[in-house]
Amino acid sequence: MENNIRGGNAPIPCQLEADKNYAWCTCGHSADQPFCNGSHKKEEATNPLIFSVDTAKEAYLCTCKETKNPPYCDGSHKN
Ligand code: FES
Repeated sequence: MENNIRGGNAPIPCQLEADKNYAWCTCGHSADQPFCNGSHKKEEATNPLIFSVDTAKEAYLCTCKETKNPPYCDGSHKN
């Protein structure tokens, strides 16, 4: 069952470390956007997306959860 919501209305710039696993919130309920804080379980919403990057970088991570390129912002929050 999906009870997803928007987690925010703009992406959040994040400093990502190389080869570290991150859990990007897909459900929007996390109070720790853009990352999962476990709230999806009690909300009966979708699981986080686990991802990593090869090289350290700053990235704008989606909070509206409407991106077509998760976990990265693709500008969909403006729609
Ligand atoms: S709290 Fe949203 S995916 Fe875990």
